[in-house]
Amino acid sequence: MSAMEARSMQDETFNPAEPVHVSVLPEECFDALMAGRDPASVEGWFVDGTTGAGGHSELLLQRCPKIQLLCVDQDPEALKIATERLKPYADRVRLRRSRHSELCRVIRKERIGRLSGVLFDLGVCSLHLDRATRGFSFAEDGPLDMRMDPSRERNAADIVNHWDESDLADLLYYEGDETHSRKIAKAIVEARRRAPFMRTSGLAELIARTLGGGGGKIHPATKTFQALRRAVNEEGDELGMALETAEHWLDDSGVLAVISFHSGEDRVVKRFFQNGRKEDRWELKSKKPISASHAETRSNRRARSARLRVARRTRHRGGVQ
Ligand SMILES: C[S@@+](CC[C@H](N)C(=O)[O-])C[C@H]1O[C@@H](n2cnc3c(N)ncnc32)[C@H](O)[C@@H]1O
Repeated sequence: MSAMEARSMQDETFNPAEPVHVSVLPEECFDALMAGRDPASVEGWFVDGTTGAGGHSELLLQRCPKIQLLCVDQDPEALKIATERLKPYADRVRLRRSRHSELCRVIRKERIGRLSGVLFDLGVCSLHLDRATRGFSFAEDGPLDMRMDPSRERNAADIVNHWDESDLADLLYYEGDETHSRKIAKAIVEARRRAPFMRTSGLAELIARTLGGGGGKIHPATKTFQALRRAVNEEGDELGMALETAEHWLDDSGVLAVISFHSGEDRVVKRFFQNGRKEDRWELKSKKPISASHAETRSNRRARSARLRVARRTRHRGGVQ
């Protein structure tokens, strides 16, 4: 049974004719990773650190017949879909389940060595948001889960039901930019005394009641859900490890391209590159991040908040370890 068939059996809303995820900034990422090199003759190993449904990977493999690609993702379901999609290139691809914090070990274990290019297209993919059973959505009811890697021990319900009020408030403020963080944390702690939160709808409704309304452009639970997702998947720590790993393994002139969807994440990437540039480790391709065109944002809403930053490795701190 193919990954697509398996998915359609589990989820009645799944339509195999629709793409699982539409890749963001595909041409811009591709051009960035080529950095002026000729796709037909570029060689070496590339890493897609956020393979998802395999869209960016497929483009690279289609257009660059001489490269090899390590595709990693922490989500086994995403990897199944990507494996199916990338079958025509099986002799040049290795798909491995891994978190960014484990990527260094995977590269070493696979004996890949220096890299020509690395891509991180951060955050969740449509596969997560569109499937209520994964628990990322406030629009549709599902278990309060939000784990991209289902083997993680802690899910969103654990945080909502067990964290102190002040820790919850800090999380919503710092990871979700939620200015009503204290009010929401207080309401959560009061409500969970009656019954623990188990479903996304229960939490989303409480937040809508607490903040009043829901008629605005964004749902009142948007920021809380973002903060919880970031905490469950330890996205801040993971990003730090992703950037360090790319810096360590990229070859001279190798390119790192990072797409972020959250201002805090984009700030981290920007600072990482700026600090590296001061120490002559990175050469920045442009000061400003690349955003999606009007045409792309019209056809793919998710592209609206995408920011692509690109830099080129300038020299190494030591030999391959
Ligand atoms: C935005 S999607 C990537 C979509 C992909 N570029 C495409 O074109 O289909 C992000 C993917 O990265 C994965 N991911 C996010 N954080 C990760 C981490 N720390 N380690 C490994 N994979 C991660 C998610 O599971 C998700 O599948």
